[in-house]
Amino acid sequence: MKKIISLLGLSCFGLMNFMFASAREEAPKLVLQVDKASVTVSPMLYGLMTEEINYSYEGGLYAQLIRNPSMKDAIPGRQGQGRGGTQPVIPGWSVSDTIAASISIDRNEGINAANRVSLLVELKENKTVGVLNEGFWGFPIRPNTDYKGSFYVKTTAGSPTLTVTLESLDGGTVYATAKVSGISGQWKKHQFSFRTGAGVIPTKDARFRISAGIPGQYRFTRVTLFPPTFNNRPEGLRPDLMGMMRDMNPRFLRFPGGNYLEGGNFANRFNWKETTGDTDLRPGHESPWGYRSTDGLGMLEFLQWAEDIGAEPLVGLFAGYVLNRDYLTGSFLQPFIDDALDQIEYVMGGTDTKWGAKRAGDGHPEPFKLTYVEIGNEDWFDASGSYTQRYMQFYEAVKAKYPQLEIISTIGGNTNMGNTMNVPGVRVDIIDEHYYRNANDMYRNAFQYDSYDRNGPKIFCGEWATREGRPTTNMNAALGDAAWMTCMERNSDVCIMSCYAPLFVNVSPGAMQWESDLIGYNALDAYGSPAYHAQVIFASYLGDKVVPVVAENLPTFELPLTRRDSVTGASPVSVQKLYCVATKDSETGHVYLKVVNVEKEPQKVSISIDGKMKVASKATKVELRGSHPEDTNTIDEPEKIIPVKSYIKASGNFSYTFPPYSITMLQFNTN
Ligand code: AHR
Repeated sequence: MKKIISLLGLSCFGLMNFMFASAREEAPKLVLQVDKASVTVSPMLYGLMTEEINYSYEGGLYAQLIRNPSMKDAIPGRQGQGRGGTQPVIPGWSVSDTIAASISIDRNEGINAANRVSLLVELKENKTVGVLNEGFWGFPIRPNTDYKGSFYVKTTAGSPTLTVTLESLDGGTVYATAKVSGISGQWKKHQFSFRTGAGVIPTKDARFRISAGIPGQYRFTRVTLFPPTFNNRPEGLRPDLMGMMRDMNPRFLRFPGGNYLEGGNFANRFNWKETTGDTDLRPGHESPWGYRSTDGLGMLEFLQWAEDIGAEPLVGLFAGYVLNRDYLTGSFLQPFIDDALDQIEYVMGGTDTKWGAKRAGDGHPEPFKLTYVEIGNEDWFDASGSYTQRYMQFYEAVKAKYPQLEIISTIGGNTNMGNTMNVPGVRVDIIDEHYYRNANDMYRNAFQYDSYDRNGPKIFCGEWATREGRPTTNMNAALGDAAWMTCMERNSDVCIMSCYAPLFVNVSPGAMQWESDLIGYNALDAYGSPAYHAQVIFASYLGDKVVPVVAENLPTFELPLTRRDSVTGASPVSVQKLYCVATKDSETGHVYLKVVNVEKEPQKVSISIDGKMKVASKATKVELRGSHPEDTNTIDEPEKIIPVKSYIKASGNFSYTFPPYSITMLQFNTN
């Protein structure tokens, strides 16, 4: 397509929103045809996608700080060496003195059917010993901070008083402490709170300790600890990460996955009914990414998360297919369809419905707004071809009860992940396409949606990312992402929704399962990748109409041949050095021009703003740039690449030089 366009010199494609002519000698020019802005920008264009991966919830957004709080992460049979001999390795837990005390997992002593496991501590000597928890690679210690915790305990040691502490890794500094009394031979939940002092220096190098001094057996389970949470929700979410998401202006939150929706097998699918109500009654399950979820962040918490960041939920319905390629159809699928209908009722049903009443009982009487549900995830992996039947069974049942809902199919579109399947004979309304690419592939495909059938299904680009840099992506990835976003935004009559994946990564050693993520954090701090900042810019400066841009003389460069190209004998492909999109806000008259310069030379471009209106002489500029494509942000250097806001002189016709490796948003004020 691009080759033909450069041969023709001046052409148009897609909805005639973007035009490109090649005449290398002349200066690049962009003409913004503001009067011709007619295509509506999808109000749902930019959203978020989430799942439990890379310790996104446990050790991430879900603010609970104790590692292995329900004692179910224990690995039987694996042995470690302790000072007093062999000690079982229990993830997260240890004792301060392995001669005076031992710990083990008791799988037959728990508090209820959902949590039957406990940590057995045998204190053999008459001395004070601590049971230690390492947290998720530490604990967030900050001055003047309140922490609230609880645990179930029972003991054979009479009625001892326990001491709970947040302390330094060597135990030498106590940051906060409290006493817990009233312990007995019966299971009982005990709550405590403590506060750090004003002089505490922030650190993550800390541990949690419960100390006992009277010999006997102690059993613990559901040990939890929370720092302050976003909106002060009990057992809530991390404020810093919530703030970062809110700054992205997301219009929807796609949850619960991703692979996390499907699960490794049927027992470990996202079984939403086991993720509501009292957290002590949630059994938790294995995430497909190699660790366990307590489901403390469950169905209602997902919905409140969406609400708290101003987004609508987009609910992925478990569709009877799991990652071990097992699936169910026909009458065997019916229980899962019933579960999905109940789930929808839990989200949007009135309090006069069974599941709406349950939601009210869980703390949220108001129904949530729900427009979109998705049937399954990446069902092109189901080589049996059962998706057609599963999709139809779900589609018909959901539409019969909720005709107003928009239903998304996971197959039938393109992806770079091998999807060649379709839902034969069925017209799907919206298709979820996934793209994980490198920056060059993003440039190659930056006009992909221009040629999509305007009468065909709408596209939900439900997972996409330029995968360059780890654990979070670098400036080169941000440039690829931004080029791709110009494509989605220009074509948002077709591509109505999009969300990047994965959203989160805990950057502590061993926490990551998927390289190239958007937001990184450890127990204490968080930062956005350059790609995160690019998305904040794109979603924050967005009009309601697409402004056609006629582009002339845009410089190009040849992509290096890929290994595949050399095998197939393909000739080198030329791609543009500049990518752009413009939109207009009909109410304010603001015109937003976003330009991405992906190469090392600055690019001087003449810009014309065409139309019967005046352009104010001052324009707002927001710029994100790197010195090198590999430049990035890290947990230790979180703000190396961040957007900078300033003002420039503008008019209906002026020139502007876009710096190397940059993403620039220019806001023109017109009337
Ligand atoms: O985003 C990581 C994974 O990529 C998702 O879980 C899955 O849907 C896709 O294959």
